Amino acid sequence: MKTHFARIRTEIPGPKSRALLERKQKAVPVGAYHNVPVFIEKAENALLVDVDGNVFIDFAAGIGVLNVGHTHPRVVQAAAEQLSRFTHTCFHLTMYEPYVALAEALNQKIPGDFPKKTYFVNSGAEAVENAVKIARYVTGRPSIVAFEHGFHGRTLLGMSLTGKVMPYKKGFGPMAPEVYHMPLPYCYRCPVGRKNGRCCMADEDHISNYFATHVPAEQVAAIIFEPVLGEGGIIPMDAEFLQVVFDVAKKHGILIIADEIQTGWGRTGKWFAMEHFGRAADLTVTAKALGGGLPIAAVTGRAELMDRIHAGGIGSTYSGNPAACAAGLAAIRVMEENNLCERAGHIGRRVREKLTELQQRVPIIGDVRGMGAMTGVEFVLDPESRKPNPEAVKAIQKRCYERGLIVLKAGSFGNVIRLLMPLTIPDDILEEGLMIFEDAVLQDMP
Ligand SMILES: Cc1ncc(COP(=O)(O)O)c(C=O)c1O
Repeated sequence: MKTHFARIRTEIPGPKSRALLERKQKAVPVGAYHNVPVFIEKAENALLVDVDGNVFIDFAAGIGVLNVGHTHPRVVQAAAEQLSRFTHTCFHLTMYEPYVALAEALNQKIPGDFPKKTYFVNSGAEAVENAVKIARYVTGRPSIVAFEHGFHGRTLLGMSLTGKVMPYKKGFGPMAPEVYHMPLPYCYRCPVGRKNGRCCMADEDHISNYFATHVPAEQVAAIIFEPVLGEGGIIPMDAEFLQVVFDVAKKHGILIIADEIQTGWGRTGKWFAMEHFGRAADLTVTAKALGGGLPIAAVTGRAELMDRIHAGGIGSTYSGNPAACAAGLAAIRVMEENNLCERAGHIGRRVREKLTELQQRVPIIGDVRGMGAMTGVEFVLDPESRKPNPEAVKAIQKRCYERGLIVLKAGSFGNVIRLLMPLTIPDDILEEGLMIFEDAVLQDMP
């Protein structure tokens, strides 16, 4: 696959994609939306090729899944070899080694200097549901605290925990009970303020007030959060605030669930984003990049908590599919051998350097932020009012794909562009993607 300019051969969508789009519209409901109106034929590392032969640089990585790039040969080979031996037995019926090997790898890599155990499910939302089940079981408490702007999936409990209404919650209620949302220290849109240079929300009284007005602390089983909010608009958790959350939780016997589904597996420059915060959650959920492109998710937690659940209390038919386990093990090896955590740090620094430069010239770029290769660009009507500008994001996303670059939208107000390129992206492709992005942003600028 060649990697140079002039890779768009047709208008976007091209004739073959348009024909498929027509079939899609007849066969698939509108709700199962697509961001980019093209159908993909093949993909390799950070490039996608559509059915009309147009080549796109991928700054979305299947929503943060392809950390090791598309169709990494080691991942494909591992999955294919496993598929040729057997495709499925159900681990809860007759077992297989790759499941255990992947659980061992997670127990070793997930932050926390204590014995851990892991089991697998099929999707991020399912992992979140399972972590909540475990927290409720072991504490005997019903309530869960999540954060405004957070995202935890689309199942009933996942969407109930989610703190973003559109498109995830509107019309789908009633939500699951005993879920409470705490305000988030979203510094660009700070709901409280700073005093003496310190986040005013990073205060024990502030959190205690929440328990006094929303739900009693002794009723709370767990607090769940993303170390860097993804869908909410790439908002890194305030480090001081998080320390206070951990301390208050410990005081009240509340468990901590870290949702590392988007931040995990090298994305933020460490294996897991919690390493940046120096604290370890009781339960950690991972998915997305875990399978190197195959669907698998995991719940990892303190062994003493995980072992409290009675035999047969957790699991599912397809959980820990053998090909996905083999692919996951291969993806971990690829990450280790290619120092992809370090590479994520390098990518992030370069992306934010370029975009902060761009921000100087573009008043509607309100904020550029992120951690490792996880970057958000927040668009506003003007820097003074900071009113969200989702229209600009919609237009820029379209101009990007028409020029051969795939980017994602995010943010509770739909006004953030989120960049999650594969960590294996070569420097020249990264630079080319950034140039396309700049060009797409500057088009309407006076
Ligand atoms: C932080 C976070 N949690 C949970 C989920 C849900 O994962 P899935 O789509 O695999 O159910 C996602 C997916 O985007 C996510 O980013």
